[in-house]
Amino acid sequence: MVETITIRRPDDWHLHLRDGAMMEAVLPYTARQFARAIVMPNLSPPVTTAKAAAAYRDRINAALPGGMDFTPLMTAYLTDDSDPEDMAAGFADGIWVAAKLYPAGATTNSASGVTDIRKIDAVVAKMEEIGMPLLAHGEVTQDHVDIFDREARFIDEVAVPLLKRHPALKFVFEHITTRDAAQFVADGSDRIAATITPQHLQINRNAIFKGGINPHAYCLPIAKREEHRLAVRAAATGGSGKFFLGTDSAPHAKSAKESACGCAGIFNAPHAIEAYAEVFEEEGALGRLEAFASLDGPRFYGIVPNEERVTLEKVEVEVPAEIDDGTEPLVPYRAGTMMRWRLASA
Ligand code: DOR
Ligand code: ZN
Repeated sequence: MVETITIRRPDDWHLHLRDGAMMEAVLPYTARQFARAIVMPNLSPPVTTAKAAAAYRDRINAALPGGMDFTPLMTAYLTDDSDPEDMAAGFADGIWVAAKLYPAGATTNSASGVTDIRKIDAVVAKMEEIGMPLLAHGEVTQDHVDIFDREARFIDEVAVPLLKRHPALKFVFEHITTRDAAQFVADGSDRIAATITPQHLQINRNAIFKGGINPHAYCLPIAKREEHRLAVRAAATGGSGKFFLGTDSAPHAKSAKESACGCAGIFNAPHAIEAYAEVFEEEGALGRLEAFASLDGPRFYGIVPNEERVTLEKVEVEVPAEIDDGTEPLVPYRAGTMMRWRLASA
């Protein structure tokens, strides 16, 4: 008998879908697994208006293959010029469910991001008032701060003062990678939560340099030391309810990853739920996978969990070396390796 686990259908609370041909190529991988996803707004140009978010949502829905059931949840890209009333109107109209803070220069398409957190204080105050979550790329960006320290420095320099000014703000520390961030979230109020990616549960920073430079292990925030990976794994599988699934799947063309200045981002959408299942199994916590993947995110966002159930089977599947159904080849996370779980009928 094949071992199986059945859970409510999961959601992805942090996803880059891109646009155009790339979006059409990657969307089915997410929709195969997840009922809903928080779609990141760092397009070029970024999604800063409700009108642009609604148009992007419509393009995603139009690209969804027939028979697939998937709902994109849109987000606003915060800039120094974001307007509190525009932010609130897009939220009230149900066009976006949250706003994303990219510190300017922190990552892909973040050049129009926020240059100083104080500049968006009125917007954050409005979000606090109306219960609109702020999703943070939690890294400082100064050149003199070591890349491996940028997340921890964000806590003291940005998150703590921000949440002191706005104690009722709903705040998601996105894609946490450190013991420091896990601790900060665990110690915070129930308005503070975090998403966790598959790669930050499975690789430490050695993966980026093993046998040479491995561009497909490079994402931001960058993978950290083993002790941090272990702390993040304990947070994900520990059942606190504050840590939930967010893949941060971030496709870039193979040629853009394997270049002299390779882009940051790991395309993990093809086998994300399977990767999480491996981690929860290894930690003896398979019984907590459903809460992490399907219950704790909806609870934080105030959305009902999915009714549909999906089954994972303990059957090995090989991740393709390359995915070539868009305009340009993509290299998926765990390319060419075996996954120990398989989503049934997928
Ligand atoms: O590695 C990353 N890639 N981190 C991000 O924050 C953005 C993402 C992207 O959009 O490529
Ligand atoms: Zn992201």
